Amino acid sequence: MKPTDLRGILQYVPAFRDRIFVLALDGAIIGDENFANLLLDIAVLRSLNIKVVIVHGAGQAIAEDGKQRHITPSNLDGCGVTDDDTLELAVNAANRLTHEILAGLAAHDLRAVCSNCITASPMGIIKGIDHQNTGKVERVDWTFIASLLGEGCTPVVPPLGTDGAGATYRINSDAVAVSVAMQLKAAKLIFASPHDGLLRQDGSLIRQLAFGALEEALHSGDIQERLISKARHAAQACEGGVSRVHVINGLIDEGLLAELFSNEGIGTLIYASEYQGIRQAKKSDIRTLRRMTRKSVENEELLRRTRASMEQEYQDYFIYEIDNNPIGCVALHRFSDTDIGELALLYVSPSHENQGIGRKLMNFVEDEARNRGIGRLIALSTQAFAFLQNKGGFVEASPEVLPENRRTAYEQNGRNSRILAKSVK
Ligand SMILES: CC(C)(COP(=O)(O)OP(=O)(O)OC[C@H]1O[C@@H](n2cnc3c(N)ncnc32)[C@H](O)[C@@H]1OP(=O)(O)O)[C@@H](O)C(=O)NCCC(=O)NCCS
Repeated sequence: MKPTDLRGILQYVPAFRDRIFVLALDGAIIGDENFANLLLDIAVLRSLNIKVVIVHGAGQAIAEDGKQRHITPSNLDGCGVTDDDTLELAVNAANRLTHEILAGLAAHDLRAVCSNCITASPMGIIKGIDHQNTGKVERVDWTFIASLLGEGCTPVVPPLGTDGAGATYRINSDAVAVSVAMQLKAAKLIFASPHDGLLRQDGSLIRQLAFGALEEALHSGDIQERLISKARHAAQACEGGVSRVHVINGLIDEGLLAELFSNEGIGTLIYASEYQGIRQAKKSDIRTLRRMTRKSVENEELLRRTRASMEQEYQDYFIYEIDNNPIGCVALHRFSDTDIGELALLYVSPSHENQGIGRKLMNFVEDEARNRGIGRLIALSTQAFAFLQNKGGFVEASPEVLPENRRTAYEQNGRNSRILAKSVK
């Protein structure tokens, strides 16, 4: 599907309408010839009633201005030391870039405002080095931004903050974007960078990654050095409740629309908090899973499984934990040589029922299935088929949809479960 296909875009509109997207633009993007196209993409988002907040960087402009004025900046990205000369360069560069963005948005009849919504405090002395005018976000005046969005404006936030006592600080723009997205409870944070997305050490592009897997990749050193800061900020946003973080190449025409309005996307998607608390089971968890679900097995809500079979396929199981206490679980089994997966062992302990956890586990399996290239999910249920139908969009199906080995087991176990299926393409 081409992203420019209006029908393709419209299918996403109900889910995106009135949601807040924070767009973090690397400074290098603003000077690029593709920037005019990016502004056009932003205009498309606005026309679909998506609320957009723009946070921008200034590193490249600071470097260029420094060269012109024969000043060597003490730091470019707002993470190192910002001396007085560099702060002056940063303020001038940021103001100029903000103006370029405002002027570009005006060219598309979009109302936009540069806001002073960031209260900053000094980064301070780190490992004995005084970071001088480098700051960190102390507070985001999110009510101000929300009121601008309510008025139909697009707030533009530079990588600067003030302390309320007259001092200005240079702040890393990714850090500003993360704080703004978290405070506004944005549906998406999109980093538009000069890179294709997050890249592994072997040069391959990470297409989709759960927050937990990103943390593991960071821990094991699997992310390329130059993208580590981006990855860390993405992880921070996910941890702070932003459920989807994208890293895209802002130099590509239609990149933003292609990422948001096509299943494949073009960059990296990190998905998070909606599935926070869910983790893959370890072999040692099988005992806990069996203990937790014992009553439901006895009540014939859940299929009886042997410990040996569960231990053999332990990687299929997922556990939902609150404060390290397991309170729910679900499994995703894949049938070999098919694109069919089975959602199974869906369980939420009675103490935590009716809080949306069952739906969360169901949605998680659906996303996981999609990530693994599974096209159709099946589920067999004796007492929760209405739940799967009403809350999960499954529809009743006949035994023919079951892969052969599953059909044999179904016919032999005498449970006479209802068979449900759902396309997850
Ligand atoms: C079915 C189950 C997973 C639901 O978990 P949950 O966390 O309570 O579900 P949610 O909070 O996401 O959803 C609650 C909604 O589903 C409905 N619901 C819950 N169980 C249901 C069932 N068995 N049949 C129909 N609807 C059900 C609730 O009435 C509630 O509806 P509402 O939002 O309109 O008020 C949980 O009750 C359970 O573990 N049951 C025992 C094991 C089982 O049968 N598993 C299914 C195997 S396929």
